[in-house]
Amino acid sequence: MSLELVLVLLASLWIVYNLLDYLVPYFHGLPSTPTSRERIRKALEMADLRAGETLYDLGSGYGRVLIIAAREFDAKAIGIDAGPVQTLRAWAGSLLNGVSSRVQVRMGNFLQADLSEADVVFAYLTSDYVPKLEQKLAAQLKPGARIVTISFDFSNWEPTAFDEQNLIFLYKMPPTAGNLGTYLAKHIR
Ligand SMILES: C[S@@+](CC[C@H](N)C(=O)[O-])C[C@H]1O[C@@H](n2cnc3c(N)ncnc32)[C@H](O)[C@@H]1O
Repeated sequence: MSLELVLVLLASLWIVYNLLDYLVPYFHGLPSTPTSRERIRKALEMADLRAGETLYDLGSGYGRVLIIAAREFDAKAIGIDAGPVQTLRAWAGSLLNGVSSRVQVRMGNFLQADLSEADVVFAYLTSDYVPKLEQKLAAQLKPGARIVTISFDFSNWEPTAFDEQNLIFLYKMPPTAGNLGTYLAKHIR
């Protein structure tokens, strides 16, 4: 095989990789922007994630949440993402960080996943997902399970805790009827 052919093949692979990296999340309505490590740690602390518990990251992107949950909290971390590049990078990241035995990455639609084993659900999404997610989480999560959301809240549930500075919302199952307004009315004087 000539050098030119090898270069053309590598360039084509690079283009396909970048197109998939960008386009799959785009068609699902949001880019794979990762949450900052500091915000992830704060969210997992708020959720009181304990060693041996199972965390799901809905839309796990490049796997940063999974790696922190497994490496720093000793949890079992399961990520679901629609993107093949995101899935591959999250899996490779778990190998490089030595936590692949505690991390699972699945390619697919998290709206079709079974979340009944989750102790903690992490979601950095947008409010467009709220109607479907509220129904799904209420139907599938066990009592005592916790949900942490970054930058969006559930319109029909009162948070158990709210980090105003980092826009992190915590919910405990079963959910309490209300919303951020009812939470603030109780907690802000
Ligand atoms: C903002 S990123 C969050 C990444 C990661 N959770 C973090 O906080 O660092 C959102 C991810 O959700 C994925 N996504 C959006 N809708 C999805 C769906 N219905 N099923 C699976 N993945 C989805 C996108 O591909 C994208 O990678």
